[in-house]
Amino acid sequence: MKQFISVNDASNIDQLVQLALRYKADPLCDRNKGQGKRLGCLFLNPSLRTRLSTQVAAQQLGMEVIVLNAAADGWKLEFGEGVIMNGDTVEHVKDAAPILGQYVDILALRSFPELKDRETDYAEHIIHQFIRYAGVPVISLETATLHPLQSLADLITISETLQANAKHYQNRKPKIVLSWAPHIRSIPQCVANSFSQWINAWQQAEFVITHPAGWELHEAYTAGATIETDQQKALEGADFVYVKNWSSYRSYGEIHKEASDWMLTTRKLAVTRQAKIMHCLPVRRNVELSDEVLDSPASLVQQQGGNRVWAAQAVLQSILNGTA
Ligand code: CP
Repeated sequence: MKQFISVNDASNIDQLVQLALRYKADPLCDRNKGQGKRLGCLFLNPSLRTRLSTQVAAQQLGMEVIVLNAAADGWKLEFGEGVIMNGDTVEHVKDAAPILGQYVDILALRSFPELKDRETDYAEHIIHQFIRYAGVPVISLETATLHPLQSLADLITISETLQANAKHYQNRKPKIVLSWAPHIRSIPQCVANSFSQWINAWQQAEFVITHPAGWELHEAYTAGATIETDQQKALEGADFVYVKNWSSYRSYGEIHKEASDWMLTTRKLAVTRQAKIMHCLPVRRNVELSDEVLDSPASLVQQQGGNRVWAAQAVLQSILNGTA
């Protein structure tokens, strides 16, 4: 593996999931793999899980890790080509990234969209410029449009559940529903895009996406899934329900202010096959998901968060090996 910015960098999804599960069973089995290698993590935006799980994963492979909270502690970076830098940006990425590439063997980066101009966000200029100028493999820790480490952890969680209940799923594909949820702020589409991209590429589930009309995701990620604007109909027979808010792609960044009835509750889940509930976290309790659902045995959210370590460890190992 040369980089990890989307599902397209994973040549075999199942092998990557199995590698992650091998690390979960024996976290230190490759403790010398990354000896003498350094991972640099650059955070242009906040994080809890991604920051810590990636560090734990790298350390379990014997790597040294350095982290820069660039938004708070670094120079404000410029990404525009030919810009006269007489504003608030202090350093151009084409000056900073090659320096970072001399300090580390792998560079990992988190950058959020601004949710103002769709074309700019969806062009993914920030990570592409780091890839262009750093000269070392780059891992996405979430970008404007995708969150591949989260999606890999999600698929690890689904695979574990399927393996533990193999009889239940004999001779049928599980039904996975991505269900839009209300939120008070404008939230990126990246987790929903990425989850859709991975489940579609995996091809081992019946995949349904449900959201209010007007909150369609970009077709590049959803093609192959069934789109259903009736949430209750979408939930019928579901084995997994992934709950996530995203702001409008069509009216870019717009919040849906009158959709509180889309919050997932135990009552709504009655039509599912005792569905397992997923969310990437952080979650707004009793806005996106009710306490009763989050605190129920059906919730996989803690397992998902824990599996972020094994996802990162599998990806780091694949990059260290130069394999997928
Ligand atoms: N799910 C996720 O990426 O969490 P953090 O934003 O805390 O890293």
